Amino acid sequence: MVTAVAQRLASQRKEIDDTLEAFTLSSTQLQQVKERMRVELERGLKKDTHHTASVKMLPSYVYRTPDGTERGKFLALDLGGTNFRVLVVKIRSGIRKSVRMYNKIYAIPLEIMQGTGEELFDHIVHCISDFLDYMGMKNTRLPLGFTFSFPCSQTGIDKGTLVSWTKGFKATDCEGHDVVDMLREAIKRQNEFDLDIVAVVNDTVGTMMTCAYEDPKCEIGLIAGTGSNVCYMEAMKNIEVVEGDNGQMCVNTEWGGFGDNDNIEDIRTKFDREVDQGSLNVGKQRCEQLSFSLRDDSDYYCEGSVWCCVTPSQPRTRPSGHHYDNICLLSFYSFSGILKETVKELAPKCEVEFVLSEDGSGKGAALITAVARQHHREIDKYLYSMRFSDETLRDIMSRFRMEMEKGLGRDTNPTATVKMLPTFVRSIPDGSEKGDFIALDLGGSNFRILRVKVSHEKKQTVQMESQNYETPEDIIHGSGSRLFDHVAECLGDFMEKQNIKDKKLPVGFTFSFPCAHTKLDEAVLLTWTKRFKASGVEGMDVVKLLNKAIKKRGDYDADIMAVVNDTVGTMMTCGFDDQRCEVGIIIGTGTNACYMEELRHIDMVEGDEGRMCINTEWGAFGDDGMLEDIRTEFDREIDRGSLNPGKQLFEKMVSGMYMGELVRLILVKMAKEGLLFEGRITPELLTKGKFETKHISAIEKTKEGLTKAKEILTRLGVEPSADDCIAVQHVCAIVSFRSANLIAATLGAILARLKDNKNIPRLRTTVGIDGSLYKMHPQYSRRLHKTVRRLVPECDVRFLLSESGSGKGAALVTAWASRLADQTRQIAETLADIPTALISLNCKVMLAAIFFGNHCFQHKCVVTFSHNTKHLFGFCTQQPI
Ligand code: BG6
Ligand code: BG6
Ligand code: GLC
Ligand code: GLC
Repeated sequence: MVTAVAQRLASQRKEIDDTLEAFTLSSTQLQQVKERMRVELERGLKKDTHHTASVKMLPSYVYRTPDGTERGKFLALDLGGTNFRVLVVKIRSGIRKSVRMYNKIYAIPLEIMQGTGEELFDHIVHCISDFLDYMGMKNTRLPLGFTFSFPCSQTGIDKGTLVSWTKGFKATDCEGHDVVDMLREAIKRQNEFDLDIVAVVNDTVGTMMTCAYEDPKCEIGLIAGTGSNVCYMEAMKNIEVVEGDNGQMCVNTEWGGFGDNDNIEDIRTKFDREVDQGSLNVGKQRCEQLSFSLRDDSDYYCEGSVWCCVTPSQPRTRPSGHHYDNICLLSFYSFSGILKETVKELAPKCEVEFVLSEDGSGKGAALITAVARQHHREIDKYLYSMRFSDETLRDIMSRFRMEMEKGLGRDTNPTATVKMLPTFVRSIPDGSEKGDFIALDLGGSNFRILRVKVSHEKKQTVQMESQNYETPEDIIHGSGSRLFDHVAECLGDFMEKQNIKDKKLPVGFTFSFPCAHTKLDEAVLLTWTKRFKASGVEGMDVVKLLNKAIKKRGDYDADIMAVVNDTVGTMMTCGFDDQRCEVGIIIGTGTNACYMEELRHIDMVEGDEGRMCINTEWGAFGDDGMLEDIRTEFDREIDRGSLNPGKQLFEKMVSGMYMGELVRLILVKMAKEGLLFEGRITPELLTKGKFETKHISAIEKTKEGLTKAKEILTRLGVEPSADDCIAVQHVCAIVSFRSANLIAATLGAILARLKDNKNIPRLRTTVGIDGSLYKMHPQYSRRLHKTVRRLVPECDVRFLLSESGSGKGAALVTAWASRLADQTRQIAETLADIPTALISLNCKVMLAAIFFGNHCFQHKCVVTFSHNTKHLFGFCTQQPI
């Protein structure tokens, strides 16, 4: 009996021993695993192998640990460990250096962890909302650091696409999406508060930063909790998936995935396989599943886990000759004891100190947020005057409204800077236009000639063919006659290629400069703007100049029927697709807007009925000193070096021709003050035009922006550091943001005016828009739309991009003009038979007006009937055409 019991006990003991045996790794085994891990870490870092590596080595965009100068008040979220925590972290620097934290823990129910992504993020926002209420902080827009303890592929400190869920989370529609965007959208959905999401960080990174704040030697962060993972500071030159070789960046190893390519099968036990089979992500996170991951169903530990911790601590030689590495360890002591021992054994040359993060990772996330904002803050302080509050923008909006008023008034117009030029275009296309036209498009970044055929089978369709022509600088800066000879020559060439030299097609001329019209086909250039400066053209009718040049050639004939500004052409192009379009704006080489104004408000044109398109020429806003309070030293320098000093001051603050140069001047000044490029200034950096507006667009691209910054700055010879690239990206953002904000203010003024003109509580309208800056810059349109919506909430605005330029619009105006010309001709022929003694010329025109209803495009007739007579008898005045 006793023997039987003893035998059973002995066999049970053997079974236990055998089982435990499988969990115990020999030194040799540990060394082998360490080597395999080393190989995987390398593979994760290398460009060619990164995609297939099981240890992903994800860049974190954290370039340094805190240095004690961080300060501010931050909100932090800590999601993905055992607890979901929302915190406020107040950091002080200097002699009062301290960190104070307030936090609340919230539950995340299983059905939310594994529900939809939208539910999960709505829940998170709900908890933040509760916490902000509790803290009484709902009205402050706090910067937020988001500890998100899952593998994220980052392209910036505030951009993280979830690679795959790990641990107990499995919410749908999150993998492959940016978690910062998802959080932002959920905040928007709830619409109760706003936050400035500055950083998204892994818990290992947050932990490293927390500990590094106390001990600057800390450069590794390790988590052994619900999951397990490690991060460490790696030399930039080794991180091949991120551009740049200078300095360091923290890498989130995601070592939990080690073994997913079957290379630790020899040490996995049947229990590990069982755990895997029962998990949410079978076959994944195999390393994490080994005994050190503290899950309810695997509460056993063994020394085998410890090898992982050692591997990344590749010894670094310090000047003193000692090898150091510091691991911040979050765990408890039985585990930590074994960990320390084994680390010592496996990395005998490293002297490692383990520091437990008492404060979790939220403090670290707040510190990262502070670090990320700190450099920005320096630049912000520097460029403070380029950032506007909504209050300032509203003030600028009301100044511009006053300027518009001034430009429209008869007495005030002569001294007004915003000229509010009548265009003699009285309505947008109505769908009945047709014909074969030529359009010239001169004044933007391209000189283009187009053939536009508008046909009317069943549906109105437009066919276009176009060609671009050069406008060399010596021509646009030479004599006016040479410029128009050039235009006539290009037109001849185009007609020849189109085989229409023998036809006299109606021509619409988009001429993108301020012109005074007395009719549609007479346009006196008031002043050159942008890059043009040909002599002898200001004060002249450009139709006459072009006709003269064509006549001089004598090889073809053309009938120039309409001159339109590019804003007007754009409005008409967009109006063709959307009848609601009543504003046209250009944000390109230059900037300008036109809109449909009530005729009764246009003092410079007779008549009160109907509307007319006004070319505002808002580029000149500020030429009377109205914007001096918001112009910076850089704006003044740009103006001094321009072709037209003292003119187009608003345009010079916002448009594509000047923005690149603005950034260059700022960079020079910042470099001189040692804020950039370690104070290095190169001849290229000092050369006008070396930094272009298209570079701003490239640098502000979400994905490759920093790489582009590096490329562009390297071409300027300044050898930028990673911090420099971020700073330059920030400068670009400030300059382009200012542009979008200022244009939002002036556009807001136009929209508010349209609403008041119509005397309606809400305006629903469409803005036709074109220009290279608006089209090419990755964030510009979004920023502009957003600010406009904030500044004029009572307007529902649709922004419609003109895909086909302004030429189509110019052709549509020409269609009207040529139809009217035909009709006038017909009437003239009909009326020619009636004895002149019976009817005056004026009345003929009046009859024509009645006959053709509102097609009176160029002519405006004021008709007064005498009711005493049965005969048609009237008095009419004809406006000069
Ligand atoms: C907390 C950190 O202290 O530890 C979290 O603040 C981290 O960011 C967590 O995720 C890890 O441990 P556990 O056991 O909660 O998974
Ligand atoms: C084009 C229009 O699309 O945009 C031109 O056809 C206009 O008429 C131009 O002048 C404005 O943009 P940019 O960037 O070329 O000045
Ligand atoms: C999992 C996550 C990882 C996290 C770790 C610890 O391994 O994938 O991102 O750091 O758990 O929470
Ligand atoms: C300049 C011109 C204006 C034009 C604008 C956009 O501001 O003066 O007429 O519309 O550039 O091209």
